Amino acid sequence: MKKMLVLVLAMTALTATVFAAGGGQQSRSGQPKIGVAIYKFDDTFMSYTRNAIEQNAQGKAAVETVDSQNAQPTQNDQVDAFISKKMNAIAINPVDRTAAGAIIDKAKVGKVPVVFFNREPFKEDMAKWDQVYYVGAKAEESGTMQGEIVAEYWKAHPETDKNGDGVIQYIMLKGEPGHQDAELRTEYSIKAVKAAGIEVELLAEDTAMWDRPRAVEKMDAFYARFGDQIEVVFCNNDDMALGVIESLRKAGFFTGGKYLPVVGVDATAPALQALAEGTLLGTVLNDAQNQGKATFDIAYALAVGGNVSSAGWTLSDGKYVWVPYQKVTRDNYKNFQ
Ligand code: GAL
Ligand code: CA
Repeated sequence: MKKMLVLVLAMTALTATVFAAGGGQQSRSGQPKIGVAIYKFDDTFMSYTRNAIEQNAQGKAAVETVDSQNAQPTQNDQVDAFISKKMNAIAINPVDRTAAGAIIDKAKVGKVPVVFFNREPFKEDMAKWDQVYYVGAKAEESGTMQGEIVAEYWKAHPETDKNGDGVIQYIMLKGEPGHQDAELRTEYSIKAVKAAGIEVELLAEDTAMWDRPRAVEKMDAFYARFGDQIEVVFCNNDDMALGVIESLRKAGFFTGGKYLPVVGVDATAPALQALAEGTLLGTVLNDAQNQGKATFDIAYALAVGGNVSSAGWTLSDGKYVWVPYQKVTRDNYKNFQ
């Protein structure tokens, strides 16, 4: 991991010097320059999105990608640097989505168009300038799909109702508070379960910040406290779902018929593996390939001063690209591997 980081940093530095030498409007290769900031490299799903952006840029644009290390002040400095280097466009995955407004103000002054992705700025901020776009997915949709997966399983497996009261006693593990995906997945997963005519009772809800090791810790504590009262665990992403599964394994689950349904979102490679093994009940594809491609395509169109509406993506309200989610269960996971 360390070695990888050093390598990535070294490569970033190299790219930076090569293209800084280009000065002016374009890189030395004559390609447009696009600055990309990722809230933190050490996030499974964002590493997929980052790779997709870089792959799509091959041969078309000089992309400089930086790690904002989960610190908004760091990202603000990176944005300043992109603007002073006269990037032709920037693609920003904000650390804190409330910081988008300030980023837009600076980009507008520097005349550098911006594509935000994965962390949705507030509507008021998006309206500040016509050279601002957003690429993401409708968080509600992923929550609804999780809820539907659980409702379907519950109805087909009456033994899931351990205390036989007809109510799902559940745990909710949230991503980063304030993130649209954390808030809306939490809300809509449960709405979908209720819409399927099933009653629910929340045993406990907490954040594990999208993070697997933190989810292991939280689940250890929840299991110690609630034990077999727990009937379902909802997680806002797969890394946390895998942490929950890891914790439950220690408590003797997933062998000898001891099972607890756990759902996540993202459809990462390890999550698909867990589906294959029969531990994870289901997940929802958060389509990094297409989100990365759309982010690049829009940024590229802006960078070359082209027409964004002919970049190959449907624009909603003139500035949003919504990439659809897809349900992933044991029945279809192979299509996503
Ligand atoms: C979500 C994703 C999480 C995490 C987060 C970062 O869309 O499901 O796993 O990557 O974005 O902002
Ligand atoms: Ca019950």
